Amino acid sequence: MIDQEKIEKLSKTAKELVAPGKGILAADESMNTVGKRFAPINLENNEDNRRAFRHMLLTAPGESEFISGVILFDETIRQNDLSGKSFVSVMQEGGIIPGIKVDQGLADFGDRGEKTTKGLEGLSDRLKEYVSLGARFAKWRSVITISNATSPSLPSEGEELPSDGNILQNAKDLAAYALVCQQEGLVPIVEPEVLLDGNHSLQQAKDASTKILTALFNELNNAGVVLEALLLKTSMVLPGKDFGQKASAEEIAKNTLEVFNATVPHNLAGIIFLSGGQGDVEATENLNAINSQGTQPWPLTFSYARALQDAATKTWAGKPENMDQAQQVFLHRAKMNSLATFGKYTKALEEGFATASGGQASQD
Ligand code: 13P
Repeated sequence: MIDQEKIEKLSKTAKELVAPGKGILAADESMNTVGKRFAPINLENNEDNRRAFRHMLLTAPGESEFISGVILFDETIRQNDLSGKSFVSVMQEGGIIPGIKVDQGLADFGDRGEKTTKGLEGLSDRLKEYVSLGARFAKWRSVITISNATSPSLPSEGEELPSDGNILQNAKDLAAYALVCQQEGLVPIVEPEVLLDGNHSLQQAKDASTKILTALFNELNNAGVVLEALLLKTSMVLPGKDFGQKASAEEIAKNTLEVFNATVPHNLAGIIFLSGGQGDVEATENLNAINSQGTQPWPLTFSYARALQDAATKTWAGKPENMDQAQQVFLHRAKMNSLATFGKYTKALEEGFATASGGQASQD
């Protein structure tokens, strides 16, 4: 049991994170993933360049109008910006809630390419330190692969992926992490990411998402996690990127909401989306379509990394003289997604701004 006062404070933070018109920036790429983001702009992946990159994203003037919180990586929560001020202080003074990625990457599950997530060992001590550094919420990502029994990507024959065993193990780990977070005074974000990789259909994504979220809320309930002080970060229901046929924004919105309405309890504080390899405009259009389907039991907003960052990263290209322009591109994307949370986005608003088409490898 977690004491009532703590839960009330956490529930308040959770509500602030999904306040109307606001979403979360995921700036929590591991060292390895930052390297993948820097490769297209030919930038060396070193501490100073990562500092400049995060400076671009965390000090854009007025970003708190659209961004409620930022998920940081371990290095960034301890790092100073280009003016020598800690990123955490910059955020606190700017009215942005600091969060922290606390999982420690992926481990193999079985021999068919499925994964679980590392990081439960020693978690409570690590969380205590992050709280002392200013974190108020946390993120844990698990990844789920969908695969047809006939898919050439399957290393061995067997049931369609995801397997029931993998769904259950990831749900149990997410629930165990969420409970420790609430005990230590952090709002947990639970993120079961259904990968876009593969040739699965929209219906297969819908079936897998339904199973995953059913198992997840069952395990969260078993563990005694308080849903009013929890955020679900999830994928939209999308066909695999090699399926060969795109779905419309309306189809995606309809199917995504059908899954949530069948599986997500109404007292959950909010649902936030990852972009998952969609293009940035596509991720905004789909969020807009989701928020155009009438009132839902939960706020539905963004927690994008690539779909908020890619165009700004390209504009910046590691050059100090491009910093201001890159921040304008980032703010533009944040504003477009903010409008999408109200269903008020239109593509005409993109005129004159750089966009990115997606396709970068997912993060760890
Ligand atoms: P993308 O929006 O790039 O998918 O990343 C979000 C995230 O936090 C993945 O864990």
